Amino acid sequence: MKRSFYILTLAIIFLFFGTSAHANEPASAHLFAYTKKDNGRAGLLFAWSIDKKNWHQIGNEYPFVKSDYGSWWGGKNMENPTLTQTPDGFWHSLWTLNTDDPTFAYAKSEDLITWEPQIYPVLDYNNICKNLNATYNSGDESFSVSWMGDKNGKVTFYTANTKDFRTFSPISEISKSQISEKRETISITGKPETGTILQVKWSVIDNLIKNAQLVNFQNQQNQETMNVVAPRFSEIKSLKANIKANKESKAISDDLIGIFFEDINYAADGGLYGELIQNRDFEYNSSDNRDWSNKTAWTLKGEGSTFEISTENPLHENNPHHAILKTEKVGASLLNDGYKGIALKKNEKYDFSIYTRATDSNCSKLIIRLIDKDGYVCGETKIAKPSKNWKQNKAVITATKTVADAHLEIIMETSGEIAIDMVSLFPQKTFNGRKNGLRADLAQTLADLKPQFVRFPGGCVAHGDGIENIYNWKHTIGSLESRKPQHNLWGYHQSFGLGYYEYFQFCEDIGAKPLPVVAAGVPCQNSGKHNHKIAGQQDGIPMDEMDAYIQDILDLIDWANGDPKTNKWAKMRAEAGHPAPFNLKYLGVGNEDLISVVFEERFKMIYDAIKEKHPEIVVIGTVGPFSEGSDYVRGWDFATEQKVPIVDEHYYQPPGWFINNQEYYDKYDRNKSKVYLGEYAAHVSGRHNNIETALLEALHLINIERNADVVTMTSYAPLIAKEGNTQWNPDLIYFNNTEVKPTVGYYVQQLFGQNAGDEYIYSTIQLSENNTEVNKRVGKSIVRDSKTGDIIIKLANLLPIEVELNLDLAELGIDQQTAPATILTGTPDDKVAKPTKTTFNLKSDKLKPYSFTVIRIKGNK
Ligand code: AHR
Repeated sequence: MKRSFYILTLAIIFLFFGTSAHANEPASAHLFAYTKKDNGRAGLLFAWSIDKKNWHQIGNEYPFVKSDYGSWWGGKNMENPTLTQTPDGFWHSLWTLNTDDPTFAYAKSEDLITWEPQIYPVLDYNNICKNLNATYNSGDESFSVSWMGDKNGKVTFYTANTKDFRTFSPISEISKSQISEKRETISITGKPETGTILQVKWSVIDNLIKNAQLVNFQNQQNQETMNVVAPRFSEIKSLKANIKANKESKAISDDLIGIFFEDINYAADGGLYGELIQNRDFEYNSSDNRDWSNKTAWTLKGEGSTFEISTENPLHENNPHHAILKTEKVGASLLNDGYKGIALKKNEKYDFSIYTRATDSNCSKLIIRLIDKDGYVCGETKIAKPSKNWKQNKAVITATKTVADAHLEIIMETSGEIAIDMVSLFPQKTFNGRKNGLRADLAQTLADLKPQFVRFPGGCVAHGDGIENIYNWKHTIGSLESRKPQHNLWGYHQSFGLGYYEYFQFCEDIGAKPLPVVAAGVPCQNSGKHNHKIAGQQDGIPMDEMDAYIQDILDLIDWANGDPKTNKWAKMRAEAGHPAPFNLKYLGVGNEDLISVVFEERFKMIYDAIKEKHPEIVVIGTVGPFSEGSDYVRGWDFATEQKVPIVDEHYYQPPGWFINNQEYYDKYDRNKSKVYLGEYAAHVSGRHNNIETALLEALHLINIERNADVVTMTSYAPLIAKEGNTQWNPDLIYFNNTEVKPTVGYYVQQLFGQNAGDEYIYSTIQLSENNTEVNKRVGKSIVRDSKTGDIIIKLANLLPIEVELNLDLAELGIDQQTAPATILTGTPDDKVAKPTKTTFNLKSDKLKPYSFTVIRIKGNK
């Protein structure tokens, strides 16, 4: 190991243990709580002083709590915070949020380090709250909160009392002189800052200093990439690993590897959904995307034609817009671009469909053509003269040429006017040949992962951008024209052509369990469409609408599993083509929500109703968006109180996090809820998916396999992304109209999915170089698949050097010399590596530098 690395390690040890070595520490000192004036997102900062003259920043502006209010793009502001301590030792902070909303923030902490979920009370809808102060009344253990209200520039001062910042006494007006202002202005590093000064025990400050140092150190470690750490291992000449499998084993989940499907990155329309016509129903509009209208993707070609949008006499009330095409000069046409072009394959058949209605007596036949960019006709059909009422017309077009970017052309054979809607073109070769089906190559790439379950429809899409945007499964079933499209919070449109039926059908086709996720009665707390003026941070479905909402969820279970003879929703499933139940077992409730009172009340109502009506359903709750913090802590407490069977954890982490948190789940209490790691990925700078991220994810899954008695399900996120329409990187699979491009990380998921086991076999590892930095970068897991009896060995080498392997499998009764193996390897920034198959020598072989190896030893079943 490099000498410089030893020096760094020593410096770190000194940093943590050295600071507490002072014998001469004060009993108390002054703590200053403030935030930076010029940056609403700086969070709550601390400085300390012995004499109130020399102030020392703690942790170089390290934020001990950050505001969680509002959306990511416009909110999360903290202004003018104040801090109070009550005799029970708890700390209470209040701050102003913004200049628009009639609310403020309250947060509570036992140690100034861990904070409870924030509360944003709304006391007066007409006033915004500035300059908050809180005075504690020890008599009745309440706070008198005062603030400056600002109503269109008219300043008034108010007060109200509270014990818990959830309920308040009626507010009353006070004069400015009655405000007891707690803030002072001091100078830190030459700059004036305003905040609260409190005299505290030195141990409080000492803890804050150490915590900030630790977090800063961990952050630095977490950012360390493979290329940065590689020189540390340059002096190792050879590295040997002895791995010995034991007889002992434990049962682990057989649902460990699943997939997370969210309509993000054009995953549904323009992606997995096989439809080739964009905006087929003329329902796009500016709420989907500010540059869009009902005419998006459609253009007129030639002269003498008009194309208008009408809502008169619609095809269906849920699909209110259609197009009126008028031709005065024959030859003009209406073009659809598809999703930046329509991909066609020579000799393949395409199902075309269009609804037409005659709007005047001169209605003519339609000519439908598929043309390439040079005007070559790649396929053509004719559609009969329309009648007075809407009628669906179908035709099959055979492509005469392979093209990546054809257009669809609608031409009126004679002059006249016609109404058209639901213009659709599907390849007949969808996945499994399903009508209204999925794009075959993309769906096959998902199937090849061998996922045990498919989560749907998100992600944020599940709980939506405000209450109106919560994903409503009932709007996604039935005839296509009756589905109710809506805005997708990732900045585009959801046609719901790929709805619940198509999703469940896909799960069945690939042998995966469905895992639908419904909103917990609350939309995404970070969304832009919250009614902050009324609800503060988080809207919830109004209580008087909750029964209906809960009924919708119960109906979903009936739709999936019920008996068509006795249940109306099950009958709809049968009529759609699936009389047998879909065998729904799991149901997610909530997606990384703020664990607020609004959330908890609604979650409990939903959870109780499901338990009562459908005790057979395994509910998966949520514990916020991160692997730590107030939502994670409160989410876990709440799930434990409610005995939720499984909770959904999410985290996207930098490289070092995966190296330094390998025991994350080893310490989880086996008696609490099980874990579904529903969203995770390694994020390196630039957000690539490369060998570095893939190996980190492999290492993480190796650690999870060891803990798969408590982590019972996982899914990498997000799953698929269309090139040119990607809102989030990295993703597991990229695609365009003609190609599917699995990433390096895809192969890790696939190797785990295809090599799952249900029994974890304990083993030990001994490395010739015994130091933690090396140890942390070699991972192993041995499982048995009880169906086949196969033993599967997974080995990750995250070092730049090879590892000579001695595998001792004697206790498993295995003494064969070789076994088939698959190896994924490359340099850390390799984005195109693919796994290769080989024969592995079990007695003496080597793990390649930067590699993931899966060895499969055939069992005797
Ligand atoms: O996976 C992308 C997004 O990340 C999901 O929609 C959300 O749940 C998470 O924040």
